Amino acid sequence: MDPTEARDPSPGRLLVSAGQIAVRIGELAAEIDAAYAGIDAPVVLLCVLKGSLFFTADLARALTIPLEIDAIAVRSYGAGTEPSGTVQLLKDVTTPLGGRHVLMVEDVIDTGLTTSFLHEHVARHRPASLRLVALLDKPGRRRREVRIDFRGFVLGGDFVVGYGLDLDERFRNLPGVHALDPG
Ligand code: IMP
Ligand code: MG
Repeated sequence: MDPTEARDPSPGRLLVSAGQIAVRIGELAAEIDAAYAGIDAPVVLLCVLKGSLFFTADLARALTIPLEIDAIAVRSYGAGTEPSGTVQLLKDVTTPLGGRHVLMVEDVIDTGLTTSFLHEHVARHRPASLRLVALLDKPGRRRREVRIDFRGFVLGGDFVVGYGLDLDERFRNLPGVHALDPG
């Protein structure tokens, strides 16, 4: 093949393996169990679709506190690897969140725009508490300050795919997290 010919983007270097994710989720679950110990009502795990699908599923099964699961869907990226700067609500929660303990489950905090938007949106429901667990954090790319209560892994600025994270809807089903090879 002509090396100057453009290839499609593909998953590159493995940054976090499936095994490392599993171990870290066990640790995060222990932290979260301890933080909510003795809670009087089930915690609402709020899965931010679609990137947090697998993380929510694995975290929920590692937790021992009573919990319920709901989902909210937003779109913050157009096509490609740069955020559009605007966040669009695609699907709202169905659980009334007033007076509930809500734990938002995010795949990755990048600019922080999505999480800020969601935080404001959920806060309007007047939950009893609102905390955030993020599997991945890219602190170097922040445009809005975000308080992460429970954090899995800190990454550099690479765009990543796998374990729920996509490029234009592809590569979500990879078991580990890979840097994107732009091709
Ligand atoms: P933020 O609003 O820039 O913090 O981005 C949050 C959302 O953008 C995440 O929930 C992801 O859906 C998506 N996102 C951010 N960084 C990446 C990445 O490296 N790979 C895939 N999706 C990403
Ligand atoms: Mg995405």
